[in-house]
Amino acid sequence: MNKIDVRHVFKRFDGAATDALQDVSLGIQPNEFITFVGASGCGKSTLLRTIGGLEHQTAGELLVDGAAIHGPGPDRAMVFQHYSLYPWMTVRENIKFCRQLQAHTRDRSSADVEAAAGRADALLRLMGLSQVGEAWPNQLSGGMQQRVAIARALMGRPDILLMDEPFGALDAQTREVMHDLILHVHRLEKATIVFVTHDVEEAIYLGQRIVLMAPRPGRVDTIYDVPLPAERTQDMKHSPEFLALKRTILDRIRETSGMKTDLELLEQLSRTAQV
Ligand SMILES: Nc1ncnc2c1ncn2[C@@H]1O[C@H](COP(=O)(O)OP(=O)(O)OP(=O)(O)O)[C@@H](O)[C@H]1O
Ligand SMILES: [Mg+2]
Repeated sequence: MNKIDVRHVFKRFDGAATDALQDVSLGIQPNEFITFVGASGCGKSTLLRTIGGLEHQTAGELLVDGAAIHGPGPDRAMVFQHYSLYPWMTVRENIKFCRQLQAHTRDRSSADVEAAAGRADALLRLMGLSQVGEAWPNQLSGGMQQRVAIARALMGRPDILLMDEPFGALDAQTREVMHDLILHVHRLEKATIVFVTHDVEEAIYLGQRIVLMAPRPGRVDTIYDVPLPAERTQDMKHSPEFLALKRTILDRIRETSGMKTDLELLEQLSRTAQV
């Protein structure tokens, strides 16, 4: 059975002239790492937020483990581009926060509380944050804050991790480290990861499959299988398979984006300058 089923999903925002999502259908396997790319406005975030239960589709069905999605749940954790940490909590408190929310809703024993503290410690170590557990978010660099946000998302051992351009604001070196870290977490924790990015190289390096979406209306254009071994290493980025797929996807994004080539735009611009 698929972990996530998207069946003929449509989404039209109030007052919008086109569908943000038009007849999107897709099955995502348990423990799959699937990445989404596509021109700006093609509905990547909308689809992710709908799976996360933050938006509701206009038509169609969205299922997790065969059951319809009704709002957010602890089985699905989200990480956004902008680190959404609570500034009044320390790093450690931020990481433990979601767990504490669950403790209020379910009856938890002191053994559970201890296990949660152990998991928070392990996540702090894994993310290289042991030294800053008692620091405040505003004392950390952007890359560190994003690692805290990821640790917090992992704290509740979610079945599904929904990530919307989580590394978009990081520098290239930090991003490489984060890629290997998230692949490691994926192997270790067996989560199903749905990952949105505008960086095609990132999409190929991380994904087992890549979904390319097209805008106006937002829809699935092409699904690519990534022809790389399950265990990824940085040197694969230079392999012919990797580079060929990157070229194919970049070309297709450009074709579907509806944007004119730079040359045409420049010619137009120079004509207006003469008026
Ligand atoms: N809350 C909203 N209200 C109205 N329209 C929205 C809303 N959120 C998104 N849209 C519209 O839905 C379409 C899809 O937007 P979405 O944010 O999902 O695109 P995206 O693929 O994530 O783009 P980007 O790569 O720029 O992040 C766009 O046309 C956008 O303007
Ligand atoms: Mg987006």
